[in-house]
Amino acid sequence: MSARKGIILAGGSGTRLYPITMGLSKQLLPVYDKPMIYYPISVLMLAGIREIAIITTPQDQDQFRRLLQDGSHWGLHFTWIEQPNPDGLAQAYLLAEDFLAGAPSAMVLGDNIFFGHGLPELLQTADAATERATVFGYHVSDPERYGVASFDENDRVRAIIEKPEVPPSNYAVTGLYFLDGTAPERAAKLKPSARGELEITSLLESYLVEDRLDIRRMGRGFAWLDTGTHASLLDAGNFVRTLQTRQGLQTGSLDEIAYTRGWIDAAQLAESARKFGKNDYGRHLMSLLRQDGPV
Ligand code: TTP
Repeated sequence: MSARKGIILAGGSGTRLYPITMGLSKQLLPVYDKPMIYYPISVLMLAGIREIAIITTPQDQDQFRRLLQDGSHWGLHFTWIEQPNPDGLAQAYLLAEDFLAGAPSAMVLGDNIFFGHGLPELLQTADAATERATVFGYHVSDPERYGVASFDENDRVRAIIEKPEVPPSNYAVTGLYFLDGTAPERAAKLKPSARGELEITSLLESYLVEDRLDIRRMGRGFAWLDTGTHASLLDAGNFVRTLQTRQGLQTGSLDEIAYTRGWIDAAQLAESARKFGKNDYGRHLMSLLRQDGPV
């Protein structure tokens, strides 16, 4: 059994954020003190994943590479893949087929932010189900904007419906998908939808009909934040700021996760801490080192 690999889908056109995203990818925009893409990368790291493919538009890839490099300074390995057109979320599995080479995967959308007590444990449960698909349901006030899960009387998922006019529940399916090694061959069988996209809901449907789809609810202790509009982007930034200022802890810190997992050593963390020494982020990294001994 191959180890689960990660995919970050960070293409798209970001039209709802125009004019900001006319010259810059949405996933490079700041969410308070970090680029947006840090947050989904942190989710894969919390799931214990170190082999990660990052899918971007061809024109944005240089900027992403400049920011993230090869990932080795976080103990990660990045593979870069281009998506020429935003032809749908399920297309990621076709583009990443060679990278995955039969391994199970965890894909997270580059504009999704997750935060919550117990997140690593939830991710570990999904990771353990290597022969199945796992997605996460989150209670929202406006389910008609998302893929929505409908449940039977035994609380098993019965269907996932994309942007339903009459939502069957308030549970939106988040942008985090743990699929098994068969995802690329299933994606190859999909036909574009009426809006011309290879739909992730159709891919999930193929697992559902075989009774191989689990939906795990993220309870009210979790935050799943949207960053796709001007207002929600600002709200997400304020959320991160409030949390970090109040707690004196970081969310989405790739340096900290890499260090606490033992993927980088104190000398590597010190190098990053010095680079960011002029701001709170660098000071936080320095304080981690002090906790562990003299620096
Ligand atoms: P969306 O928010 O659905 O689309 P978008 O980012 O292009 O924005 P807008 O609706 O404002 O035009 O995309 C969700 C995430 O998935 C986002 O991180 C971009 C990514 N994405 C791709 O990388 N490729 C795709 O083909 C699609 C549809 C989305």
